[in-house]
Amino acid sequence: MRSADGAGRKYARPVAMAQAGTIESVYREQRLFPPPPQFAERARIGSREHYEAMYRRSVEDPEGFWREQASELFWFEPPARVLSWDPPVARWFDGGRTNLAYNCLDRHVTGPSGGHKAALVFEGEPGDVRTLTYRQLLAETSRLANALEALGVRAGDRVGIYMGMIPEAIVAMLACARIGAVHTVIFGGFAAEAVRDRLLDAGARLVITQDAAWRRGRAVPLKAQVDRALQAVPSVERVLVVRRAGVDCAMQPGRDVAWDEMVATMPARHTAPALEAEHPLFILYTSGTTGKPKGVLHTTGGYMVGTWLTARTVFDLRDDDLYWCTADVGWITGHSYVVYGPLAAGATVLVYEGAPDYPAPDRFWSLVERHGVSIFYTAPTAIRAFMRWGEEHPRRHDLSSLRLLGSVGEPINPEAWMWYRRVIGGDRCPIVDTWWQTETGSILIAPLPGATATKPGSCTLPLFGVRPRVLREDGTEAGPDEGGYLVIDGPWPSMARTLWGDPERFRQQYFSRFPGLYFTGDGARRDADGYFWVVGRIDDVVNVSGHRIGTAEIESAIVSHPAVAEAAVVDRPDPLKGQALVAFVTLRAGQTPSPQLREAIAAHVAEQIGKFARPDVVRFADALPKTRSGKIMRRLLRELAAGSEPRGDVTTLEDVSVLAALRQDEE
Ligand code: WT7
Repeated sequence: MRSADGAGRKYARPVAMAQAGTIESVYREQRLFPPPPQFAERARIGSREHYEAMYRRSVEDPEGFWREQASELFWFEPPARVLSWDPPVARWFDGGRTNLAYNCLDRHVTGPSGGHKAALVFEGEPGDVRTLTYRQLLAETSRLANALEALGVRAGDRVGIYMGMIPEAIVAMLACARIGAVHTVIFGGFAAEAVRDRLLDAGARLVITQDAAWRRGRAVPLKAQVDRALQAVPSVERVLVVRRAGVDCAMQPGRDVAWDEMVATMPARHTAPALEAEHPLFILYTSGTTGKPKGVLHTTGGYMVGTWLTARTVFDLRDDDLYWCTADVGWITGHSYVVYGPLAAGATVLVYEGAPDYPAPDRFWSLVERHGVSIFYTAPTAIRAFMRWGEEHPRRHDLSSLRLLGSVGEPINPEAWMWYRRVIGGDRCPIVDTWWQTETGSILIAPLPGATATKPGSCTLPLFGVRPRVLREDGTEAGPDEGGYLVIDGPWPSMARTLWGDPERFRQQYFSRFPGLYFTGDGARRDADGYFWVVGRIDDVVNVSGHRIGTAEIESAIVSHPAVAEAAVVDRPDPLKGQALVAFVTLRAGQTPSPQLREAIAAHVAEQIGKFARPDVVRFADALPKTRSGKIMRRLLRELAAGSEPRGDVTTLEDVSVLAALRQDEE
């Protein structure tokens, strides 16, 4: 992929500056896009020197740096101690007392704008538009905070949020944060079983949901899924139901409460309590390599400082921006860069409820044009879908309000990067390719748009206080352009503190591979300019359409189908989704493979986990290739799924004839 002649050069010359159609013929690493001077002039961090000076300070005097950054935010009680670090246990800003919702809301209302600035500009899928100023968002949040307290929710209690992208979902998160209740947002695409597992694990006392969510013109019922999930979750005492789509849903007397009846009657003032910096903020479930999802726990002070600083600097947020991150609040991107980071930074955030192709594939561009979006942050999988739908859709709209583009979720292939830059960014907008994870809480590696020259496909350089390294198997440092394991050396404020209820798994998962260092699970290389190129997960987690899913979770769903004996799920490259899912399935005795059964198994996964996890291909096999210790050899399956002959080592394979048989069922 890369030619060696880039080595040792400090700055490559920008050859083939974004000429459409010529990108395949040039050396990739030679394309370098310096920040446009007009952008840099007005940017918060407007030169490479400025970035480097700040970065140096942040790693040489982390405590001084972070104390200073934290002091830009509001604290009832300033932190006594910036950091204590005994891997894997980090504590940030001990002795400090703050409130994240206060920083996202009250701080702006008491500030110079008086809170009259728009906090949220919402557009529903049917086309309804609603704007909430900071003042209004504070009032709504306060009402809900009062309602939650009236319903018996106390600091430390867990609250499940199972909603679509409507302002009430954001109000729900902020109200929990305000009273110190720990929210766990469950993506609205998850089916009842997945909702149940997460609510059970968190021990939620209350669930906030809505009747139904609009998706491609259909009202998708959410409350009904909650009802099914709650049959097996005894800890949940109350369900608060927002009326969004106006569809009928059963209300269980004594348990279910209508939001519009209760919340509207509550006082619009609520005094934010002073919470400890390490007070738990939220649990967000993410997939691991076993079937059981991991409840990543983030806490208040460090997460607040990390998301605020990165939102301000990576997105260069200014007072007149309209910022749009297309992520759902069910994922970490929605937490950190729809809600907490941008609101703490006082931004105006666009929120869109529905699908990008409804009613037509130009919906996003129509939104950008009509509202005047200036910063747009999305995922490579979406960009590839836009490419496939065709340039004519963005071309129909005036996108000149855009000044900055962002990407997150998986490695962005250079073709998609170039297309994004040319077609959406008009060759004018810098692109920030942001690397981070649910566990990191905030962006760790990314360009600063006014300071960092970008290379298509690279997330570039570390942000403040972050020391990433690429290690070989044996823990020694990989050389320039040598692939290895991406680790982070030392703590950072927004890092996950633990896995809910399982500190040992937290240590094991992240701090045992290379003792004392945070292991990301990603493979990466660093080029001669110090730029990072992340290649993706190295374990059995697949990233489909921007959703990170453990293969084991999908496998357990498949195996729960009565006809199935065993299953192994792997990914294979897919031009549109990035990765497609291929399931290898062995059937129980007496079952025969059939197209109907393929379909039934795929549908079963959609029902158990959600449509997004539905396997693209189901292949039947008599047996799965296993090691002698019984571990399925996914590497072989991955090679088969990609259509190539298994090459590597097969010596650990228990029964080689299994491979030959597998090749026969090619769909
Ligand atoms: C994994 C984390 C962080 C929010 C969305 C996903 C991959 C994420 C990039 C990027 C290359 C990326 C990594 C990472 N990833 N951003 N800019 N370049 N890979 O959060 O579900 O926790 O997934 O997504 O593999 O480990 P997540």
